[in-house]
Amino acid sequence: MFFEKKDGIVYKTVTGNDYCQVARLLCDSFYSATPLSWPLGGPLAPAEVETVFPQLSVIISHRVSILAFDADTKEIVGVRLSVLSDRESRCSPSDPLLDSAELAARYPKHSRLVQLEQHLDIQADCLARYRVSRAMIGRFLAVKESHANRGIGGRLVESSVRLAKVLRIPLVIGTSHNVYSHRIYRSLGFDCIYSVQFRDYTDKLDGEKPFVALEDTEHSEAAVFAYRL
Ligand SMILES: CC(C)(COP(=O)(O)OP(=O)(O)OC[C@H]1O[C@@H](n2cnc3c(N)ncnc32)[C@H](O)[C@@H]1OP(=O)(O)O)[C@@H](O)C(=O)NCCC(=O)NCCS
Repeated sequence: MFFEKKDGIVYKTVTGNDYCQVARLLCDSFYSATPLSWPLGGPLAPAEVETVFPQLSVIISHRVSILAFDADTKEIVGVRLSVLSDRESRCSPSDPLLDSAELAARYPKHSRLVQLEQHLDIQADCLARYRVSRAMIGRFLAVKESHANRGIGGRLVESSVRLAKVLRIPLVIGTSHNVYSHRIYRSLGFDCIYSVQFRDYTDKLDGEKPFVALEDTEHSEAAVFAYRL
């Protein structure tokens, strides 16, 4: 169990008791906040990303996710959700929106984001590239806007690396959607394995460029970073 306190913020392993607060943070600080939703037709409401909620329980059960909470108010202010991927035991959770065309049609906006994530995973192919069978794969990194730019995101990623060391996991992977998280991974010594400009990205299912109309913000490029321990 990871547990550490710094500057009034506690960093610890996410457990089942944190499920509701983490789900709310994901909706408020990740899905409804991401500028990637604008060209898709507007913010992603919780009902549009509801396939994530059952997956969240699975992600938490891997016990390699870390959250940050305010020591005074106990409010969760940031989270890095990760899964443990193990090629030997074929344990690599896949998204239901990739497995079911019916679900993908029911949740078209979310499906675009999941397709993008799959594109990044395939292009980077980190486990093969580093010739390892196990890795800690970061799925979401989010910090509440009220607590942004205070080093919490950086500390969450750094804590993940330290947890991986303790658990003898040889590779930590992170997907990054904006320049601030790019800075975090670079400053911690991660290698950038693959990157694509959102405007250039093509969805292989229909050949569309779903983010071609994305406005200029800190979200211009998606990248996959990896740290070999
Ligand atoms: C990306 C995110 C997790 C960063 O978390 P954070 O706690 O603000 O990050 P940090 O405070 O550790 O800052 C990381 C770097 O970004 C910079 N930064 C962060 N927010 C900034 C802001 N609003 N303005 C300017 N710089 C900013 C920091 O100065 C720091 O740069 P440095 O290393 O050169 O000093 C957070 O902004 C977020 O949750 N965004 C929405 C969700 C998202 O896009 N997640 C990433 C996709 S996976």
